[in-house]
Amino acid sequence: MKTSTILSTFAASLAAASPLVQRNATPSVEILAYTAGINNPNGSTQTITVKLNQLQYSSLEVTKLQVSNDNGAGGINSNFVECRMYKDAAGTQVGSLPFNTTDPALISTNTVSIGSLLCYVIKNS
Ligand SMILES: *[C@@H]1O[C@H](CO)[C@@H](O)[C@H](O)[C@H]1NC(C)=O
Ligand SMILES: *[C@@H]1O[C@H](CO)[C@@H](O)[C@H](O)[C@H]1NC(C)=O
Repeated sequence: MKTSTILSTFAASLAAASPLVQRNATPSVEILAYTAGINNPNGSTQTITVKLNQLQYSSLEVTKLQVSNDNGAGGINSNFVECRMYKDAAGTQVGSLPFNTTDPALISTNTVSIGSLLCYVIKNS
């Protein structure tokens, strides 16, 4: 009986700790990538998961990029995140202004290849 009480207490504390576990997940946000352009009138919106502070390569052809309002993984408030696009995989050629959940980056009227994306937190939660 005593053992099962200890076990259930342990299970309860595990459940209580689950938000912590979530915070330990690799922090990332979702980027909304708009693929409709003059050269691709029937484009779609795709999402790209970008880990914070890590260049994310993508060859997707886009005209507009925005950070999704959906909360990111690892306890990240996506409203506190800013991202940039680079024209190359190594992140040496800036391809967009910074963008976030409210201010998308308008890349081009024709679709262009992303190259890479970098996201980072710019505000305190
Ligand atoms: C784009 O969508 C329109 C309307 O649904 C369709 O008529 C047209 O064939 C599509 N064009 C391409 C290139 O898929
Ligand atoms: C997004 O960036 C713009 C321009 O820097 C800024 O004015 C706006 O407050 C930012 N949005 C959020 C949610 O921080």
